[in-house]
Amino acid sequence: MRKACVIGWPITHSRSPLIHGHWLRVYGIEGDYSSQAVQPEHFPQFLNSLAAFGYCGANITVPHKEAAYQIAVRRDASAEAAGAANTIWLEDGVLCAANTDIHGFLANLEEQAPGWDDSRGVAVVLGAGGAARAIIRGLLDRRFSAVRVINRTRDRARELADRFGQAVQVFDWERRNEAFADCEALINTTALGMIGQPWLDIDVSRLPEGTVVNDIVYSPLETPLLRDARARGLRVADGLGMLLHQAAPGFERWFGVRPEVTPELRALIAADLEKA
Ligand code: ATR
Repeated sequence: MRKACVIGWPITHSRSPLIHGHWLRVYGIEGDYSSQAVQPEHFPQFLNSLAAFGYCGANITVPHKEAAYQIAVRRDASAEAAGAANTIWLEDGVLCAANTDIHGFLANLEEQAPGWDDSRGVAVVLGAGGAARAIIRGLLDRRFSAVRVINRTRDRARELADRFGQAVQVFDWERRNEAFADCEALINTTALGMIGQPWLDIDVSRLPEGTVVNDIVYSPLETPLLRDARARGLRVADGLGMLLHQAAPGFERWFGVRPEVTPELRALIAADLEKA
């Protein structure tokens, strides 16, 4: 029986076991997917012992994604682009790493807002952490001409701009609403708006009419940002699709079937989020 897991610290919030468990059932695969709470100081040893624990691969979540990238022996282009890994598998015993957040982000927008990238104009990214880095890579791959990054800690935004080159520009957090002129896609990658966090204070009335607004926060599913954007008549994409789509490539690696993100799966996870 093939076994995979998600590794994080803490891990109780993860919906990955529910997602992969659903696919194992739907495709009739005799496999197992569990969660492993591993403290940062034990993570390198745990990852290097994956095979010994009987795992053929794993998802990696907060706070281990950068460490997983460092420890992996082979990294695909997505991991290199993001500088972090969320999907691990073994090839002839060798630890291989990918970052499927880029795929998850793009596939979600294609599904929820078809044609969102047609204009290839200006995108605004709020936040400059690991998720922002993957998303900026995805936006540049889709040939957006400019990506404006706005972060509370300006230096982190500067680092991303230096990494990605002149298409990425830094705007001040205090003057964030001024970055919305010509904006075609707005993506919130900060934790703001998540249950238990302050809400994201921006003026959606400053966004142009055609803007697509995406929040990668999925708990709650409809964040105050998405609610306000929807009320304003803008197209919106919630964060659940990114979570579901980023899971698919790992499942295929470990269990040999490319799983589908169906309305049934979405409803299952949405119902679980409602309980939170
Ligand atoms: P992830 O991997 O999910 O991107 P992260 O690297 O911890 O997580 O990044 C979290 C992002 O949310 C950062 O951009 C962070 O801003 P800082 O770089 O200034 O820390 C942003 N963030 C978190 N709490 C915030 C708050 N109260 N106000 C503004 N931004 C916040």
